[in-house]
Amino acid sequence: MYRSHPIEEVTTLPIGTSVTLSGWVQSVRDHGGLLFFDLRDRSGVIQVVVNPETNALLNDLAKSLRDEWVLSLHGRIAERPAGTHNKTVPTGSIEIQVQELHVLNTCPTPPFPIDDRIEVSEALRLTYRYLDMRRGPLRESLSLRAELTHFIRNYLHDHGFWDIETPILTRSTPEGARDFLVPSRLEKGSFYALPQSPQLFKQLLMVGGIERYYQIARCFRDEDLRADRQPEFTQVDIEASFLTMDQFLFMMEGMIQSVFERFSTSTPSRPFMRITHKEALEKYGSDKPDLRFGLPIQNATELARKTQFRVFLDVLEQKGSVLVQRFPGGASFSRKEIDELTQWTIDQGAKGLAWLKLEGDTFQSPILKFFSEESLNDLRTLLQPESGDLLLFIADKTDLAQKISGQLRLKIGDALGLRSTQTHSLLWVVDFPLFEWNEDENRLEALHHPFTAPRREDIHLLETDPLSVRSDAYDLVLNGTELGGGSVRNFEPHLQERLFQKIGISPESARERFGFLLDALTFGAPPHLGMALGLDRFAMLLSGQESIRDVIAFPKTQKGTCLLTQAPSQVDPNQLRDLGIRQI
Ligand code: AMO
Ligand code: AMP
Repeated sequence: MYRSHPIEEVTTLPIGTSVTLSGWVQSVRDHGGLLFFDLRDRSGVIQVVVNPETNALLNDLAKSLRDEWVLSLHGRIAERPAGTHNKTVPTGSIEIQVQELHVLNTCPTPPFPIDDRIEVSEALRLTYRYLDMRRGPLRESLSLRAELTHFIRNYLHDHGFWDIETPILTRSTPEGARDFLVPSRLEKGSFYALPQSPQLFKQLLMVGGIERYYQIARCFRDEDLRADRQPEFTQVDIEASFLTMDQFLFMMEGMIQSVFERFSTSTPSRPFMRITHKEALEKYGSDKPDLRFGLPIQNATELARKTQFRVFLDVLEQKGSVLVQRFPGGASFSRKEIDELTQWTIDQGAKGLAWLKLEGDTFQSPILKFFSEESLNDLRTLLQPESGDLLLFIADKTDLAQKISGQLRLKIGDALGLRSTQTHSLLWVVDFPLFEWNEDENRLEALHHPFTAPRREDIHLLETDPLSVRSDAYDLVLNGTELGGGSVRNFEPHLQERLFQKIGISPESARERFGFLLDALTFGAPPHLGMALGLDRFAMLLSGQESIRDVIAFPKTQKGTCLLTQAPSQVDPNQLRDLGIRQI
C-alpha cells in the first residue's frame, strides 16, 4: 500500500496514530543529530523526522534523500516539541516519526525550486509545466477550476440541461476569427475546420427538440493572443428553447449567483444591472465597462465649441468629439508625469492629451487662455470637479476618442487602486447594434454572429437604416472582462436568409455554406436562444489571476506555441503526401 491517508487528513487523526504517506521530498535539513524533511502531496505538506538513535540504517537512507524524490513512508504522528510549531501550515503542530522509508523514484536537481516564494520566469514554468504544477499557485488554480466545472455541470444538469457533445472535426462556423483547418485524407483537397464554438450544432439540437443543452466545450480560434485569449479555450456553452430573453437571463443570473456564493466572498443580487451598448461606449469608452468604480467620461463637445483651442475646433470641424474625464488627485502631477501620461495616450493611438488642473477654485493649464469663461462654467456644471482634480481631454473621431478615453479611465482606476480583485462588478451589456460597418470590405457585418436576432421593433429599419437596427444580443461583463455572450436566434428561415443577404452572403452562397441550417429552420424550429461563458476567464477572475494561462494546465504562449511539447512542429513528408499536400 502506498498510502493510508492524504497528508491534509493527518491533522484529523489522534497523536500516536500510525500512517503510511506518499509524496515528494522537499527541503531536507540535517541537524547533525536529527534529520528533518518535508513530505508534500497534492493536499499538503508535513514535517518528517528521522532519529538515528532509533534506526541507524534508516538514517543513512534518509541522508541520501534529495528534493523531489518520490517516497512512501510509514510512521507515527507525534506532537512537535513546544516552541517548534509552525503556524503557517495546517500540519504545523505535528510531525511524522518515520519507521519505514521507501524511495519510489529519484529526481535530478529541478530547473527551478519547487518553492512558491521563488519567482520563476513563465517560459521556464511552461517548459516544465509538470514541475510548475507541484507548486501551490498552479495547483490551487487547477483545483478551483475543477471545482468550478463540477459545480456548473451539476447546476445545469439539475436545471434540466443535457450535456451533449458536438463534433470537433466540422465545417467552419463564422464567429469572426480565423479557422484552424484540418486536411482530409479520404477527400483530398477538402478540409475540416475545428469549431470556433458549437454555435450551429446547438441550434440544430434545439430544432431536434432537445430544449435545454449545455456542454463544457473546447473552442478553437486562430487569432492574435492576449492575456485573456488562447487559440484553444473552453466555453460553458448553453442553449434553450421556449424562453424569453428576460427569463433566460434571469436563469443565467441564478447560475452565476450560485457560483459566486460558492467561490467568492461577495454574491451579486438579481437582476444584474443592464447597460446599453451605446451608454457603455459613451460613458465608459468600452463595450465591457469596468464598473467597480465610477468616474464616467463626459462629452465636452458643446463646451469645446466655446473655446478658441485650435485642436478642439479642428476635430469639431471633422464632426469628431471632445471627451473629458476627471482624475481625482491628479492636479499634484508634475509636468513630467503629465508628459508621460500624454505619451501613453499617444501610444494608444490618440493625437494628444489636453489638460486642466483645478487647484482651489482656479484652473491652471498652458491652454487655459483658449477657454472662455462660459466654457469653464459649462465644464464645472458637466464634471462637478473638485480641487485637486486633473481634467483630461481627448479630441478625435468619436469612436477613437471613446476607445482611448475608456483606456485612460481604466488607467486612472488602476492608479487610484479602484480595481481591486476583492470587489466584483457584474452587468449585462444589451442593445448592441445588429451590424457594424466593415471599412475594408465596404459592407455590413454581424456584430456578434449572423444567427443573432434583430430586435422585433427594429426589423422595419433593416432596409432603410440597417446600422441603427439593434439586436437581441447580450454580453456578460465581470470587472471589465467579457465573461460571456449570447443572443436570441433567428428561428424563422426567411429572416435568417434576409440577414445573410444584408451582410453580403448571396442566397447561393448561404445555401452552399449554411443550407443545412436553413433547411433545419424550415422543419419547425422552436424559438431559441443561448449564450457561452468563457470558462478559462471565469476561473481566472474567481482565482484573482491576471492571465488565463494561469488557470490552464497546458497553455500556449503568446505566439501560439507549446513550450512543453514544441507544438506546432514539422511533420513527416509522408504524412503530407498521404494528405495530398505539397509545401510551398
Ligand atoms: P463569443 O465569441 O462571444 O460567443 O464567445 C463566448 C465567450 O468565450 C470566451 N472567449 C475566449 N476565451 C479565451 N480565449 C479566446 N480566444 C476566447 N474567445 C472567446 C469569452 C467570450 O465571452 N457562439 C457564441 C455564443 C452564443 O451566441 O451562444 C460565442 O462563441 O469569455
Ligand atoms: P499642440 O497644439 O499640438 O501643442 O497641443 C497642445 C496640447 O493639446 C498638448 O497638451 C497636446 O497633447 C494636446 N492635444 C493635441 N491633440 C490633441 C487631441 N486630439 N486631443 C486632446 N488633446 C490634444
